[in-house]
Amino acid sequence: MIIAIDGPAASGKGTLARRLAAHYRLPHLDTGLLYRGVGRIMLDRGFPLDNVEIAQAIAENLDLADLDAEKLRTRDTGEAASVVAAHGPVRQALLALQRTFASQTGGAVLDGRDIATVIAPDAEAKLFITASPEERARRRFRELVGRGELADTADSYQAVLADIAKRDARDSGRADAPLIVAPGAVVIDTTDLAIEPAFAAALAAVEAAL
Ligand code: C5P
Repeated sequence: MIIAIDGPAASGKGTLARRLAAHYRLPHLDTGLLYRGVGRIMLDRGFPLDNVEIAQAIAENLDLADLDAEKLRTRDTGEAASVVAAHGPVRQALLALQRTFASQTGGAVLDGRDIATVIAPDAEAKLFITASPEERARRRFRELVGRGELADTADSYQAVLADIAKRDARDSGRADAPLIVAPGAVVIDTTDLAIEPAFAAALAAVEAAL
């Protein structure tokens, strides 16, 4: 069984993916980490993010085992990830790894932007997790303040909201694998849902799809 979960930044898709993976005892891949890994290496080595050849070479040599989720969750890494993710050859370079993960015996849970459309269009269960930009900005803001990455001020909330809007526009507007609701995907809006009811809705959608 493959569970494909897509949605915009800070929609809650990562949390739901982890919960579903634990529930069904399936391996889970947060595919955003792959793009974050490429973006982080570009930043650390001082390569311009629009250099497609270098980004592609980094993507081709990316090792899942080297990706540290904690280190890759920073703001500048997310921003760099969405720039390199718009390069077709980078997406192509990361395709085989994701398809291999998805085709493991017993199944897998993958979350990202193009799982149900490109990576695993034959997935048994497809979920599209969303929430209003303001609510997603509040979640990301609280997370960044909690980690000491951001000051707890109205201005920094506005900056996060602007980041979210920019990232949404880039992820939805790109030519290659834009963020869209796949045919057959169940949309869950988590704007007014706490984690437990959101998980219950996700679980019910997966059960209905099996
Ligand atoms: O989900 P996360 O915020 O970690 O993703 C970072 C960026 O990676 C996204 O803004 C998006 O541009 C890109 N991404 C993608 N396709 C995926 C997962 C992430 O383009 N399957």
